[in-house]
Amino acid sequence: MHAPAPSPLPARNLEHAGASILVFGDAATACHAAADRFADTLGSALQERGRAVLGLATGATPVRLYASLVARHRRGELSFADVATYNLDEFYPISPFDPKSYRFYMHRHLFEHVDLAPNRAHLLDGTVPEAFVAEHAAQYDRWIAADGGLDLQLLGIGRNGHIGFNEPTDRPVAETLALPTRLVDLHPITRADASREFGAEEEVIPRALTLGVAPILAARAILVLAFGSNKADAVARSLTGAMTSRVPGSLLQSVPGKVTWFLDAEAARGLL
Ligand code: GLP
Repeated sequence: MHAPAPSPLPARNLEHAGASILVFGDAATACHAAADRFADTLGSALQERGRAVLGLATGATPVRLYASLVARHRRGELSFADVATYNLDEFYPISPFDPKSYRFYMHRHLFEHVDLAPNRAHLLDGTVPEAFVAEHAAQYDRWIAADGGLDLQLLGIGRNGHIGFNEPTDRPVAETLALPTRLVDLHPITRADASREFGAEEEVIPRALTLGVAPILAARAILVLAFGSNKADAVARSLTGAMTSRVPGSLLQSVPGKVTWFLDAEAARGLL
């Protein structure tokens, strides 16, 4: 008796709030499909403009997506030679050599394995002197705009619904939609979740630089990945609840037609 091979097709294909939602049997299959979409978007941008500009995310969720991209690169199917990347967020302050830094993560999971030019792999810089952080953040938004904008933004979602490190707040929605890249304080749930990497909650660096809501929503396409039952509530509130700054993922409803969610069955529990 053999277990049936996992289907390459989405188990279900849903629509909510102008987003397309692909629900897969497991996270590995979802990551493979997301890597397909990522590679297709990269290929179309190269065809249309001769280059691609990609917004990257970190965390546990996209690790298998990056492994799948690296495997494609090794098979000669995918090149980053004409690609520029912009990462979504970074702790502040942090050394790029700190294994908990997102720069270190990106190097380990993607940059050291592919042919991306070192001066085209951009991250917010955890070493910028505090007096220059606002200038650095504003400059990061200008770099993306000068590069022609993001062809694709990859996102995970926090248990509290955060995107990047745009945390839940009581701001009016219009104000949150206009938020630029900036330094933020981390939400208690984010700090609790980050204790996984930092060893203890008190050890978690309490501030971070994050791409703003406005530049995230300006990307021409947005792929959101969420796996596991602990993300089900944030996913359901983002897709079926009202748009609110208390659930930053719900603000993706403001760009109908741009967003594709790649979920496993557990993360989609509140939608099925
Ligand atoms: C982190 C990051 C986000 C990430 C999210 C989910 O704190 N700032 O960019 O998407 O939270 O993380 P994970 O994939 O580890 O669940």
